[in-house]
Amino acid sequence: PTKIAVFASGSGSNFQALQEAIERGELHATVELVVTDKPDAFVVTRAKKFGIPVLALNPKEFASKAAYEATIIEELRKYDVEWIVLAGYMRLISEVLLTAYPQHIVNIHPSLLPSFPGKDAIGQAMAHGVKVTGVTVHFVDAGMDTGPIIAQVAVPVIDGDREATEAAIHKEEHILYTKALRQLFES
Ligand code: GAR
Repeated sequence: PTKIAVFASGSGSNFQALQEAIERGELHATVELVVTDKPDAFVVTRAKKFGIPVLALNPKEFASKAAYEATIIEELRKYDVEWIVLAGYMRLISEVLLTAYPQHIVNIHPSLLPSFPGKDAIGQAMAHGVKVTGVTVHFVDAGMDTGPIIAQVAVPVIDGDREATEAAIHKEEHILYTKALRQLFES
């Protein structure tokens, strides 16, 4: 199996979907480590429930972003992590991690990139009044939700109903991320 680390800052529903896909045999991988920059995030609770080790670091406690990422890399090496999978990790990745894992860091984003990068992509799409939005899986580079696109799926906006639109997007994220990673790890 391909050894991965999932990076997350929030709820961790994408982490859980990947872990469940692995347990169902739909993705030939193991989540060796969950990395979070938010020690109180719900993803920590989810990871513990699955018995997966968590590295929770507060970036503010490091002298620089380079030092913060270097500490993460040390830990990833201990687990022989091959791929970094960002799942709601709300921080830019610097050259330190990009150099350590060239072409082996991926991200999921709740819009059809390059539309609506950054925070609250779903809110941005609704405010703009688009009728179709979606989900993108892409390779990570130094930019904010930039980098070569691997997979996309369109999701219709449910007019005026943010909650329903968000639920539909999350549902598609969980399917698309598993599918995209399966193809990446097989090739
Ligand atoms: C997901 O919708 C993910 O696409 C988004 O954060 C959410 C995390 O949900 N990521 C970004 O916006 C990245 N710019 P989760 O914690 O339940 O997986």
